[in-house]
Amino acid sequence: MYSEKVMDHFKNPRNMGEIENAEGVGTVGNAKCGDIMRMYLDIDENGVIREAKFKTFGCGAAIATSSMATELVKGKTVQEALLVTNKAVMEALDGLPPVKVHCSLLAEEAIHAALWDYAGKHGIVIEGLKEPVGDIEEIEEEAEG
Ligand code: FES
Repeated sequence: MYSEKVMDHFKNPRNMGEIENAEGVGTVGNAKCGDIMRMYLDIDENGVIREAKFKTFGCGAAIATSSMATELVKGKTVQEALLVTNKAVMEALDGLPPVKVHCSLLAEEAIHAALWDYAGKHGIVIEGLKEPVGDIEEIEEEAEG
């Protein structure tokens, strides 16, 4: 059912963890399955993503897509990172079963949320980037407190 690449990234996730004082952090969730993904981006002064890490509380496909998404955005400019869509992530993983497509959407949304955070902190506009609907950080903090 899952490709070898999906299984590999699920079993040996790349870039799991967090980046302290990351330039961009985005947290998104899927209300239906309850899965949560947080993406950390370390971005240099030229707008190039030096490092990407993730923390995902979710299914295997969500972990595999987070892992692949962080691999794909590393070394890209913030503008290029917008092209790392859920489709691109799925292709890089040799596909996902149809019922798991929404998991890859979480990865795309998490990247966008982290880029939005970065753009906001630096007062820049990333062309084509829309405000993420899914950034749930505040809600989560409220619930914790
Ligand atoms: Fe929800 Fe995979 S089942 S992200």
